[in-house]
Amino acid sequence: MTSGAAKDFYHKYYRTEKGAMWAKGHMGFANPLLNCLSEIRDLISIVGKRQRFFKKVLKNNKKGLILDLGCGGGYKLFTRYGAVIGVDLEIAPLKNACAACAYKMAVNADITSLPFEKDSFDYVVSSDVMGHIPLDKKNLLLSEIFRVLKPGGATAHAVETASANFLYRFAQEYPQLFQKSFVEEIGGHFGLEMPQAVLDRFAKKGFRPIRVERLWGFIWPTEEYLYRFDNEYKDKSFLIRALVAVSKALNKNIVIHALVNVFLGAVNYFVESLTPLSHTQGLLLAYRKP
Ligand SMILES: C[S@@+](CC[C@H](N)C(=O)[O-])C[C@H]1O[C@@H](n2cnc3c(N)ncnc32)[C@H](O)[C@@H]1O
Repeated sequence: MTSGAAKDFYHKYYRTEKGAMWAKGHMGFANPLLNCLSEIRDLISIVGKRQRFFKKVLKNNKKGLILDLGCGGGYKLFTRYGAVIGVDLEIAPLKNACAACAYKMAVNADITSLPFEKDSFDYVVSSDVMGHIPLDKKNLLLSEIFRVLKPGGATAHAVETASANFLYRFAQEYPQLFQKSFVEEIGGHFGLEMPQAVLDRFAKKGFRPIRVERLWGFIWPTEEYLYRFDNEYKDKSFLIRALVAVSKALNKNIVIHALVNVFLGAVNYFVESLTPLSHTQGLLLAYRKP
């Protein structure tokens, strides 16, 4: 995918319901009580895994200048650890990153060709972006991260991956549906690769690992089952139909939804320890530039 084609794709995607959700970014709740409750939920639930990871990596280091790649509507959490500059192909969400998430600056550019000097940033982060970068551009992206990061700087990413878990393999049995539901409707996952391949890329670029965690395997937050399977997949299997029906019922009430996601977090913890790395569907990675 050329950057022009990618731009067209995201421009259209941001007009869909799911795209509009990203455009809002991760701002947290305006109500302090709700904010506090969601922080507690994130401490222990499966949906909070990503937040916990970024907090662990960023709080262990001094504050600094942060570059958020493919920032969409922004991630308020990052601003606790320094001034944040966001980069994205799309302008509409960038406006939110500045207005609602308090990013210092928003830059409309392609992250495989960053308009910054070398050694500019203390941190380079991304959330749900690397899976969107086509395979032939990934090394370019890692070279750019290496170039703009200061020596000793850290880079942390939530990376969507391909997987060998049974749900992912089931989904791949229907290539057209897979393309629609796992690649395009989920926002252009044009560069999914297996977890080990992602780790190898970082190692080959010369990054030193700080921490590597798995996101989740076949236990997902309930809304993920709906994003991916509440469509023609339901006609393919009784199990999927049941999964979607149960997820819908559990998502109706905000308290039940939170409790279920805490329970799923615990189940996922055990499943993770029993399954190989290839069964994870997403990685949380932090590396340092020597
Ligand atoms: C799934 S969204 C994630 C947004 C945000 N990081 C978040 O966690 O909500 C992926 C974002 O990556 C952006 N993106 C994809 N390819 C890009 C590229 N080559 N350069 C800049 N941004 C890109 C898209 O426009 C989109 O905003």
